[in-house]
Amino acid sequence: MANVLKGDASGRGQIAGYRVSIPARQHPYTEAEIAAVVDVMRNCEAQTQSSKMLQFQEDFKNYTGANHAFAVDNATNALSLAASLCRIAPGDEVIVPAFTFCASAIPFGKQGAKLIWADMDPKTWTVSPSDIERKITGKTKAIVVVHLLGMPCDMPAIMAIAKKHDIRVVEDCAQALDARINGQHVGTFGDYGCFSFHGAKTMTTLGEGGMLTVKSDADAALVPGIRHNGCCAFNYERERYWVPAMSNVDMDIEGFWPNNFCIGEAQCALGSEQLKSLKENTDMIIRQNDKLRELLKDVSEVEFNEIPEGYRHVRHQYIQHFDGSAFGKNRNDLLDLLTKKYGIRSIVQYYPLYRYPLFQKLGNGDFDCPVLDKWWDNCFSVPMWCGMSDEVLETIADSIKSAIADLKKA
Ligand SMILES: Cc1ncc(COP(=O)(O)O)c(C=O)c1O
Repeated sequence: MANVLKGDASGRGQIAGYRVSIPARQHPYTEAEIAAVVDVMRNCEAQTQSSKMLQFQEDFKNYTGANHAFAVDNATNALSLAASLCRIAPGDEVIVPAFTFCASAIPFGKQGAKLIWADMDPKTWTVSPSDIERKITGKTKAIVVVHLLGMPCDMPAIMAIAKKHDIRVVEDCAQALDARINGQHVGTFGDYGCFSFHGAKTMTTLGEGGMLTVKSDADAALVPGIRHNGCCAFNYERERYWVPAMSNVDMDIEGFWPNNFCIGEAQCALGSEQLKSLKENTDMIIRQNDKLRELLKDVSEVEFNEIPEGYRHVRHQYIQHFDGSAFGKNRNDLLDLLTKKYGIRSIVQYYPLYRYPLFQKLGNGDFDCPVLDKWWDNCFSVPMWCGMSDEVLETIADSIKSAIADLKKA
């Protein structure tokens, strides 16, 4: 039973036997957030697609500066909508970072695209713009970039490449709410931005939720129909409101097959309320990570990613890289000690996607990503949440130092 996952599907949840575990959520709901949900339960007639959704979309546009925002049930489906809007069809190629969560790629593969894996930048650990450009062919239909771990990708460079080759850009911002480059929010550089309010995120709409941001008015006009099964109003006056039926199902969505990607009103009300404390919570997560970096700054075997000037990296994961090659040890040796001897529930996140059976079986196992392939085998994450005390951060840092000292002696 040793390999059976405990806690929730992401490995979160309090688990006995650890001094520092990974809680199921980053922070408790506030009383105002609970009241917003209860208010919908008590007072709202509409449970879906009504005033709370419109308000949440407005609030999100104001927060991010996006031209258009559409609330959806999760980020995977925001990415599915973006894949539809990119008109991905069998035979197309889509460039996707190999270092990301599987949902960044699946919606594009599902539309029939061949997934071309892009390598990472060795310093920032986000997708390498030069590797993207190297992999563009006449078949490239879209570029997906992922602001993984909350670190913005190099959007000025990526947008210049996309413009030169006239290719659409989808920004996966699932981990990067409130991440910015010189004040500009991620998700507003490319054609589409896809955000997640999953339970592990800094802001969560009851465990699931998402938002699609869209740059062009023409694309935005298509989204409501695709989001809700092509349902729309009749575009002419009707003498009897029930003839021919209550609402229309039309294809003024350019022949796209629609779906139901809607999110409920209670989740949207909570989303609007959560946006109010988002910056404060994000600032706290950043400060905690700064402290951890400071505590480990003299440990030469441990490295964090470099944050370029003007980048607001929201530190969605506290990921590090370990180099024990000088004494013949690797990340697994370190985690054996950290987890078993020191009780720190460290984890490893995001297997390079080309190594997963699902992508290999579906014909997407080829790769040329030398930087990621070498780096990944020695990366690891330590627990994080919003509100970690200095004492907990010191416990984590001291444990890493002690474990490395043990490995050097072994
Ligand atoms: C990088 C990335 N993309 C996409 C997703 C999918 O988000 P959701 O769970 O809201 O569908 C996640 C979820 O954690 C993610 O981390």
